[in-house]
Amino acid sequence: MSLSQSEQKTLVANTAVDTLIEKGLIFSGMKIGLGTGSTAMPAVKRLAEHIASGKLKDIKAVVTSFQTQNACQDYGIPVYSMNDRAIGGQLDLAIDGADEVDPDCNCIKGGGAAHVREKIVEYNAKIFVVIADSSKAVQTIGTKFPVPVEIIGDARVPVMNALSALGATAVLREGVRKAGPVITDNGNQILDCTWKEPINVPEMEAKINSIVGVVETGLFTQNKPIVFISKEDGSVEIRNLK
Ligand code: 5RP
Repeated sequence: MSLSQSEQKTLVANTAVDTLIEKGLIFSGMKIGLGTGSTAMPAVKRLAEHIASGKLKDIKAVVTSFQTQNACQDYGIPVYSMNDRAIGGQLDLAIDGADEVDPDCNCIKGGGAAHVREKIVEYNAKIFVVIADSSKAVQTIGTKFPVPVEIIGDARVPVMNALSALGATAVLREGVRKAGPVITDNGNQILDCTWKEPINVPEMEAKINSIVGVVETGLFTQNKPIVFISKEDGSVEIRNLK
């Protein structure tokens, strides 16, 4: 068997949702955070299938982007804000894709420019789950896939200077079929950063977030996730599941 990347994404999403239901970590009545991207979308679909079959009831979802909001609306999954009384600022579990995952379960997220709302949801979830195909598993973060940094547009040049002082090469993310920068769901812009040498990931997350004008970095180091990684041969590796 040799699965394509797209087949691996569906496999890992379905395996993760089904395993988490079996383990009692996805359950009726829960508050769940739903991620963004082409791996998160099949997970939302699988969740909707279990709701439609009656296996899961009274699920309250908090979404991380317009993409996920639209998907939940299409599937009929009720969407709440982190601020709603029914959510109270804390989730039972959040599930999402990632751009890179290292052996310590540190991640880069934000390839889809949704990492600010993803981090709000995933750092405020009792359990964070990352689902990824084999291309996302790396030894070192920061030298290959760019780390997105969401910024206030008026602070672009001083933030670029400060990122350069941290050793990063920062490039403004440009729109596709839209002139000018990508504008995030929060109305901000994105600088994509790479380093020539491996970085200390938790330290870099804190340093970038201390720059005035930065809204949030796509380095995720603080709420260590359970990680599901699918392989070309159809198997799924699970890390950090007790
Ligand atoms: C969006 C994200 C996504 O989870 C990440 O980019 C992975 O995307 P995909 O599953 O489409 O490869 O962080 O901001």
